[in-house]
Amino acid sequence: MIRLEGVSVRFGSEVVLDELNLTLEPQSATAIIGVSGCGKTTLLKVMAGLLRPDQGRVSLEAGSSLILQSLGLFPWKTVRDNVTVALEPLGVIGVEAERRTNEVLAELGLTEVAGKFPGQLSGGQAQRTAIARALVRRSQLLLMDEPSASLDALTREDFQDLVLQLHRTHPSTLVVVTHGIEEAVVLGQTILVMTKAAQPRRLVNPLFGLPDLRSDPRFGPFCQLVRQALLPVAASVVPE
Ligand SMILES: Nc1ncnc2c1ncn2[C@@H]1O[C@H](COP(=O)(O)OP(=O)(O)OP(=O)(O)O)[C@@H](O)[C@H]1O
Ligand SMILES: [Mg+2]
Repeated sequence: MIRLEGVSVRFGSEVVLDELNLTLEPQSATAIIGVSGCGKTTLLKVMAGLLRPDQGRVSLEAGSSLILQSLGLFPWKTVRDNVTVALEPLGVIGVEAERRTNEVLAELGLTEVAGKFPGQLSGGQAQRTAIARALVRRSQLLLMDEPSASLDALTREDFQDLVLQLHRTHPSTLVVVTHGIEEAVVLGQTILVMTKAAQPRRLVNPLFGLPDLRSDPRFGPFCQLVRQALLPVAASVVPE
């Protein structure tokens, strides 16, 4: 669970988050969507405890993992070591660290590339390594910043299916920032449409978790609804 109360973040005179109130239930899946610069990454950093708000309160479950768009893999470490190293701050070392690493590598189909370095991986493999590193920590809160932005369309769908499957098998509170409307509808039980310095609009997604969601006849119309919600307010105001 995560609760933000009256959270404000300013950079100089620029107000990015303005007295934001938000509660995400335990084990919920939330997609955050909004135009570039509206404050999505800033909000994730506040949720991850990496950025202290200028004002307001943040209550967090213990243990969060943030997957940055850049993935943040260590280029000089193998896939295996990139995963194991995430356990060190938790005090998990030795045989137990090895066991947990192997388990997660197998689950994400990375066993065969465990000895490779990040520069030798495909985009999808690198993405899965970043997820493995978050998953191995067993965090209660999993935050992802545009995780599929660099993937091609089919790999992206595989990635989304994987995230959903992991959310079922390892329940945690999931927050995914995305620019993709379809991705928001696939991954978000709740979709938060963000506008800079304004309270986000909350859309409940009735299609979340349906099997074969993308070919459901309701998928297109719901994506359209999200698209409408993203349009700038000015565009929906009748000019004087
Ligand atoms: N450390 C910082 N110092 C100054 N300004 C910042 C800082 N971080 C973010 N900003 C500003 O805050 C605003 C929100 O940035 P943020 O990165 O949260 O946007 P975003 O919604 O994630 O955008 P994008 O979709 O492009 O990733 C932007 O105008 C940005 O320039
Ligand atoms: Mg961002």
